Amino acid sequence: MLKLLTISLTSLLVTADQGSPSLPPGFHSDLDDISVSAGHFHTCAIESRPGVEFGGGIKCWGDDVVGQATPPSGIYVQVSAGYMHSCAVGIDEQVKCWGKNVGQVPAGLFSQVSAGEFHSCGVMKDGSVKCWGANHWGEGKPNGGDFVQVSCGNGSTCGLRGNGLVECWGRNDKGQLNAPEGKVFKQISSSLNFHACGLEYESGDVSCWGWNHREQSDSRTGPFIQVSAGSMSTCAIKEDQTVKCWGAHQPIPHESLLDDQDMIYDQISLGVDHACGVTADGELHCWKKGADFGAHHVPLGFAVA
Ligand SMILES: *[C@@H]1O[C@H](CO)[C@@H](O)[C@H](O)[C@H]1NC(C)=O
Repeated sequence: MLKLLTISLTSLLVTADQGSPSLPPGFHSDLDDISVSAGHFHTCAIESRPGVEFGGGIKCWGDDVVGQATPPSGIYVQVSAGYMHSCAVGIDEQVKCWGKNVGQVPAGLFSQVSAGEFHSCGVMKDGSVKCWGANHWGEGKPNGGDFVQVSCGNGSTCGLRGNGLVECWGRNDKGQLNAPEGKVFKQISSSLNFHACGLEYESGDVSCWGWNHREQSDSRTGPFIQVSAGSMSTCAIKEDQTVKCWGAHQPIPHESLLDDQDMIYDQISLGVDHACGVTADGELHCWKKGADFGAHHVPLGFAVA
């Protein structure tokens, strides 16, 4: 079974200054197993290699008008699909991006990368965040200090600190920077459409902020194990590994999921007009809700890493 977002606890829980709960020092979301990413109109996923548990080559499908679905060869451990570009962390901890206007990937070693609508950011091995590509709204000017995860939206970026607090920067016309203060999260997801969500560390509840005209930023009581913010919708995997979505035009076919209790998921990723999920059996399923340029057409015989 694919391991998702395994939380490494390198020491015991500690209590923060104000007595509020906090992540343990050294906490990090292990994002090495994030092997599928639904982008704007394309999807990228890491293909499993027979007999090898970890990493693989990348395949992408869907809109490829500027090469965003034509990945370089090599072995990768994490992939992120944006709008006109995609990025991935290699097994050598280098980041590569492909497509249009990717910008200049900074030199150095990375632990995670996120491709947004027009920009990208990555968490470096030393915990600092670097961004490249567009910076019209300050989305490419990260706060200093250490982070454990970064998630790029459309003109905005959110980062998860080692203490579980979320900080966002860039465009704030829909409140997409207004992460709830003082809440401790263990995973975050920025949509390409002006909202973002976080998975709360202790309760597993989902809290969202930003654009809420379709109730996509409503909170949900968990426990959940992963959340993905899409265009005008949000989906999260419950502890029993079924998927729950809210907002408008949900890309996940609700009835089929609810009817088929065997459909349990390890991972979910929402694009703009499609979504993909990795089942507990390691199968990759994608769905579409509109004209998605074939982003939901998983190649025949594709096995996700
Ligand atoms: C991203 O923002 C740009 C500029 O505001 C907008 O034109 C575009 O539609 C947005 N993309 C999505 C997916 O909402």
